[in-house]
Amino acid sequence: MNKRFLSTIAFAGAAAFALAGCSTETGSTGSSSSTAEAESTGGSDAAASDVITVGFAQTGAESGWRSANTDSMKAAFSEDNGFELIFNAADNDPAAQISAVRNFINQGVDAIVIAPVVEDGWDDVLQEAADAGIPVVLEDRTVSASEDLYASWVGLDFHAEGVKAGEWAAAEFGDTETNMVVLEGTTGSAPANERAAGFDEAIAGTGITTIDSQTGDFTRDGGKSVMEGYIANYGLDGIDLVYAHNDDMGLGAIEAIESAGGVPGEDIKIVTIDAVKDGMQALVDGKINYIVECNPLLGEQAAQIVKDVLAGTAVEKAYYVEDQAFTQEQAAEVIDTRPY
Ligand code: AHR
Repeated sequence: MNKRFLSTIAFAGAAAFALAGCSTETGSTGSSSSTAEAESTGGSDAAASDVITVGFAQTGAESGWRSANTDSMKAAFSEDNGFELIFNAADNDPAAQISAVRNFINQGVDAIVIAPVVEDGWDDVLQEAADAGIPVVLEDRTVSASEDLYASWVGLDFHAEGVKAGEWAAAEFGDTETNMVVLEGTTGSAPANERAAGFDEAIAGTGITTIDSQTGDFTRDGGKSVMEGYIANYGLDGIDLVYAHNDDMGLGAIEAIESAGGVPGEDIKIVTIDAVKDGMQALVDGKINYIVECNPLLGEQAAQIVKDVLAGTAVEKAYYVEDQAFTQEQAAEVIDTRPY
């Protein structure tokens, strides 16, 4: 198994991956599911042919963004493109995701792709993958582990997204005293951490005050229930601005504001991140005021990186995909042509 990666090591001299031949990890409980899995007998057989067996550990299915990302990954890691994809969605559970990765290692896949739920806690399992000679490519989110433990990452600049959202808020409210509530993404995730930091930097010195900040776990239901709590505590009149770390939580906030008799986008302004279809529609409808894009279409780049790593072609440690941002007018112009 992993002949392709061995040749990568030989070619690139990447001493970071200590090749112990196989993983000693047992006891995996990961519950991978795959269209390929039913017919597959595992990575070793696949590696004997030209098919590349890839285990993909997705975060879950928490948002519209995630669905678009999963679709993009499945389309790129297709049989037509020379892959056998073993897909696992961890339901936003970090322990379940690590378990899924261990399962991929035990199956002897050719490469592992991870969209890490949270940043911390990856050192051991990434070392196990390295010891087994299996290259790991990260997509979407980053980890705090040493970058020697993975081959490459492709994704978005979450900090810059937060800055863009904050710059819009700073321009909109300036010195005006503004009470803001925040709907945070999954606690400990790279986008929640970095979008918070970027936004806070951009609003420093303005009249915007964060009166409350809680996690809605990147879900619509989470955003709705946290917003209901904010309205109960501060009243509609006590909140001027919602900063939601993703569209889905912003859409949940809209439901909460409307149920309480408020007008989202007018009584309370809303800025979100993602620019998925439902979010863009709410922007066009005037219920959201500004959206910073987070492009979920990372599949093709991730698949190319995996092929390059396995072929021994040098890859960068990080590939950033560009984002845009949309006002209500700009959203109306592009909404019909967007692919997600
Ligand atoms: O990691 C990207 C984030 O994860 C998206 O902004 C959010 O919608 C998703 O759940």
